[in-house]
Amino acid sequence: MSYYTSKQSDGRFAASSSSPSSSAATPLASSTISGASQGSTGTVHAGRPPGVEPVLAAHGLIKRYGHVTALDGADFELLPGEILAVIGDNGAGKSSLIKVLSGAVRPDQGEMFLDGKEVSFRGPLDARAHGIETVYQDLAVAPAMTITENLFLGRELYRPGFLGRTLRLLDKRRMLAEANAHMASLKIGIRSMKQAVETLSGGQRQGVAVARSAAFARHVVIMDEPTAALGVKESNMVLELIGRVRDKGLPVILISHNMPHVFEIADRIHIQRLGRRVALVNRRDIDMNHAVAVMTGATTLQ
Ligand SMILES: Nc1ncnc2c1ncn2[C@@H]1O[C@H](COP(=O)(O)OP(=O)(O)OP(=O)(O)O)[C@@H](O)[C@H]1O
Ligand SMILES: [Mg+2]
Repeated sequence: MSYYTSKQSDGRFAASSSSPSSSAATPLASSTISGASQGSTGTVHAGRPPGVEPVLAAHGLIKRYGHVTALDGADFELLPGEILAVIGDNGAGKSSLIKVLSGAVRPDQGEMFLDGKEVSFRGPLDARAHGIETVYQDLAVAPAMTITENLFLGRELYRPGFLGRTLRLLDKRRMLAEANAHMASLKIGIRSMKQAVETLSGGQRQGVAVARSAAFARHVVIMDEPTAALGVKESNMVLELIGRVRDKGLPVILISHNMPHVFEIADRIHIQRLGRRVALVNRRDIDMNHAVAVMTGATTLQ
């Protein structure tokens, strides 16, 4: 696997094969380690400040597919208002973890807590009903539909009274007004909400997907590789947007292979390896090479 860890001269991020042995990790200064602990939960160098309860947490998640163990006792913790990056090698169990957290997959074992209450999602709609929105890497939007239609897909607003209740007439004017207001609040510059999404650039499309999730999420936004298919300018736009979603108070889980993006935007980093969380660190307490070395198993955090 290659990780995006460096910039080429044209400004694009180069895929550089990790060479963990040479990246020999700068050891974490012991002064930065607060509440460090090691055990089934991995090395936690970014403990919770006192009194702060996680928005979403999981303990000991196990998910097996036949003989393959995708999640092998994984722990997870997302704090209010943070961007938590989830990084890990191919097959480390990142998508499996996110699928459990977003209700797409039921774990074989383990517990999940939303706002401190144990939850068990029956499916993605159930997770959505609990305020967890997921932006998937592919199929994030319906291309032939307009931006407004995409924003309200599956949650259309109906006209008041008889027209809406019985005749099921859509309240297009209200949806358009709300779509405009929402996109403006996130500073997404799109000329017309009536534009079909297929006429937008990749970055704008991803922007619509992020905006949709931010519009409806009450608790958590999960994004799986939101910048993977984007160029530099578009990626920057989406990263800024993710920052604005966090600034609105919604915590974001960001899965990414792109280390510069992770280090630019994340508050904490969850490192997944062989189906478990092996480390949870503050971004400012670790450098990129060290993070890659931990995720490939070349080194561990003490
Ligand atoms: N539906 C499935 N059926 C069988 N095996 C699966 C299934 N989903 C995941 N796995 C296996 O579980 C392991 C973890 O996969 P997962 O997709 O969670 O990894 P990942 O960290 O998201 O990897 P990537 O970076 O490649 O997306 C892999 O070995 C994978 O082959
Ligand atoms: Mg994956």
